[in-house]
Amino acid sequence: MAEGPPQVQALRQTDEPLSRETLSELINVTKACASAKNVRPVHYTVLSRPFLTEFATAIAHVIPEGPMTPFAGAILKGHDVLFRGAPHVIVAHAKEDVPFSPESDCVIAMSAMEMMAVAKGLGTVWVGFLTRMITLPGMSELAGIPEDHKVYCCLAVGHKAPAIPHIRPAPREDVPITFHE
Ligand SMILES: Cc1cc2nc3c(=O)[nH]c(=O)nc-3n(C[C@H](O)[C@H](O)[C@H](O)COP(=O)(O)O)c2cc1C
Repeated sequence: MAEGPPQVQALRQTDEPLSRETLSELINVTKACASAKNVRPVHYTVLSRPFLTEFATAIAHVIPEGPMTPFAGAILKGHDVLFRGAPHVIVAHAKEDVPFSPESDCVIAMSAMEMMAVAKGLGTVWVGFLTRMITLPGMSELAGIPEDHKVYCCLAVGHKAPAIPHIRPAPREDVPITFHE
C-alpha cells in the first residue's frame, strides 16, 4: 500500500455518540484552513440523534416524485439510507452572499476535519445526499441553518465499528495527471 494521507473509508460505525469535546476538537482543526481572501466564512451545525432520525423522516415526506422516491420509501420503512446509522452529521454552511468561493472554503475545511477524524481512529462518510435534500422546502430551517446561509457539504462522524478491518474495499489506482509545460 502506497504511503499517503490517512485512508478515508465510508463510515461503518457504532451508534455511540462522540462527546461535544471531541466534536469541537474536530471542528476547531479547521481554524488552520485556508479560505479565499482569508474571509473564513464557514459555519458548522452538528446534527445528532435523536434529531437525525426525525430529520430523515421529515426529509422522506418532502422528497418529490422522481428518481429519489425509492430513498423516501426506504427511510419510511426504517432504513437509514441517508445517515448510515451515524450518531452525528456535521454540516458546513456559509452566508449566501459570501463573494468569493464559500464552496471551496467549506470543502477544504471539511476535508481537514475528515483527515483529523481518520487520524483519531474515527469513522466518517460524506453525506452528499443531505447536501441535496437539505434544499427541500423547510429542511434547512428544521436543521437550524440560518435563513441566509447555504449548505455546501455534510460529513457523518462516529466511532468505527470494531469488527470492520481497516482496509480499503475499493482498489485505488494511480490518478490521471497531465503535466502541461
Ligand atoms: C462528495 C461526496 C458525497 C458522498 N455522499 C455519500 C452519501 O450521501 N451517502 C453515502 O453512503 N456515501 C457517500 N459518499 C461516500 C462514497 O460513496 C464512498 O463511500 C467513499 O468515497 C469511500 O469509499 P470506500 O469506503 O468504499 O473506500 C460520498 C462521498 C463524497 C466524496
